[in-house]
Amino acid sequence: MKNLNGKVIALTGAGSGIGRCLAIQLAQHGSHLSLSDVDEAGLKETKELLSQDIVVSTHIVDVADREQVYAWAENTVKDHGHVDCIINNAGVTSIASIEEIRYEDFNWVFNVVFYGVLYGTKAFLPHLKQRPDAHIVNISSVNGFVATPRNGAYACAKHAVKALNQTLQQELRNTSVNITSVHPGGVKTNIARNARSYDSKEIHQEQIVSFEQIAGTSAEKAASIIIKGILKNRKRQLVGFDAIVIDALSRIFPQKFSDMLGFLHDRVRRKRMKNT
Ligand SMILES: NC(=O)c1ccc[n+]([C@@H]2O[C@H](COP(=O)([O-])OP(=O)(O)OC[C@H]3O[C@@H](n4cnc5c(N)ncnc54)[C@H](O)[C@@H]3O)[C@@H](O)[C@H]2O)c1
Repeated sequence: MKNLNGKVIALTGAGSGIGRCLAIQLAQHGSHLSLSDVDEAGLKETKELLSQDIVVSTHIVDVADREQVYAWAENTVKDHGHVDCIINNAGVTSIASIEEIRYEDFNWVFNVVFYGVLYGTKAFLPHLKQRPDAHIVNISSVNGFVATPRNGAYACAKHAVKALNQTLQQELRNTSVNITSVHPGGVKTNIARNARSYDSKEIHQEQIVSFEQIAGTSAEKAASIIIKGILKNRKRQLVGFDAIVIDALSRIFPQKFSDMLGFLHDRVRRKRMKNT
């Protein structure tokens, strides 16, 4: 997408973190916005932060609910006349091993992180194909190419999002719809705080603090990198220096790097368990 000014952009997970910063920065580029989230209060706060000279509609949508996502796509076209871009950004995670996680929680993560992106893509695609210069932006993660312990549901879902993006890039090659697969490293947002953790409250609190210390990229910076990726029609957008390093190491030493991450994770976890 060469220009964002005057374009109609639909965005999920707009009530917090990267989604909120994307909404603010897209508004500054002059885009009209159809914003959605399950969090009504967060969405309202985001809307209040936007400049006044664009058209904004807000919608309470659970991306894991297919009917709600399709209804939102129809309402977006009704409210704005057309839609040029969908950014499938909403996400959640869990902190639990594959052995201990209940199917209910695995499905919660997978339904939001993968099916939410699939529904958003399929619901908006017929509308996007009618536009001369359209874009689908699906947020995966570095966990779309490397997995870490106690984060399995999220890593499985983010790998699936990456596969979906690669498939779409091949299948939509000769259309007006471009696809950007986004892979952030650590970004300071509410994602760890909102995780369903199987650890004690004390350990989860420590995990939140250490995530916020390690996460090297602010949500504002992440949003500006993603927007640059859209404007340059990048097929793959890494976000943050850590993402660049993780991408390189996971390609040069796929097994050794994965083993090393597992080893380091176990060490930190054993230390935390000993101290609480
Ligand atoms: N923060 C990171 O380090 C990081 C790293 C890689 C990828 N990501 C991805 O970036 C995206 C944005 O996450 P964030 O870090 O800004 O987290 P965040 O928790 O700050 O924001 C996520 C938003 O998604 C919304 N949401 C949750 N469940 C929903 C549902 N069922 N339907 C609709 N909306 C829902 C939340 O209400 C929230 O507003 C996610 O896809 C996440 O997986 C984040």
